[in-house]
Amino acid sequence: MTQDELKTMVAKAALDYVPRKGILGVGSGSTVVKFIEQLGKSGIHIDGAVSSSVKTTHLLEKIGVEVLDPNDVEGYDVYIDGADEVDPNFNLIKGGGACLTREKILTSMASKFVCIVDKSKLVDTLGAFPLPVEVIPMGREQVIRQLRKVTGGDPVLRKGCITDNGCQIVDVRGLEITDPIALEDAINAIPGVVTVGLFARRGAEVVLYSEEDGVQVRKRA
Ligand code: 5RP
Repeated sequence: MTQDELKTMVAKAALDYVPRKGILGVGSGSTVVKFIEQLGKSGIHIDGAVSSSVKTTHLLEKIGVEVLDPNDVEGYDVYIDGADEVDPNFNLIKGGGACLTREKILTSMASKFVCIVDKSKLVDTLGAFPLPVEVIPMGREQVIRQLRKVTGGDPVLRKGCITDNGCQIVDVRGLEITDPIALEDAINAIPGVVTVGLFARRGAEVVLYSEEDGVQVRKRA
């Protein structure tokens, strides 16, 4: 089975978590693209959605879903999004698609984060995937120096990438993240950091992951 097929499989399984009333939060990335395709085919009606990227907004509108401004929404039940890495404690690395800030905002507004991945994203310890950090461009080099000190890793500017918020992404390579909450807090404290793609203070409540035999569900106790 290809990774593409595994992504489609988990995207289909996520339809069970779409609330039939109220609005849905929708993340970004290739697995979410599959989810939006499946949502379009399913005939499920949703009252509206909040979206984590310009691309997701466009795809949702194409299947007839009204996309709302998060400023007009107080909170909602379910956020569905992918991840770059998932550890056994529901901590995540996200931001491979550079949408981490909006994804974190939408996560903070949701009662339940349903994370959809194929099994290649499951790890024992986060950090093999370079950790994305969104930064204010005028402070970029200072943030890079601080990231080197704080993480002990190797921060590298993602070339040619400007986020939907007009910022840049620095990817920190060479990490083994044994205390995700402490690292999230330490990086958030660096002036010029907009968001770090570590979702540990608030990770997922449910992880759906696809493997050859089907889709497995992990739920936070
Ligand atoms: C985008 C993300 C994505 O969820 C993450 O990169 C996973 O993407 P994909 O489903 O393409 O593997 O965090 O910012």
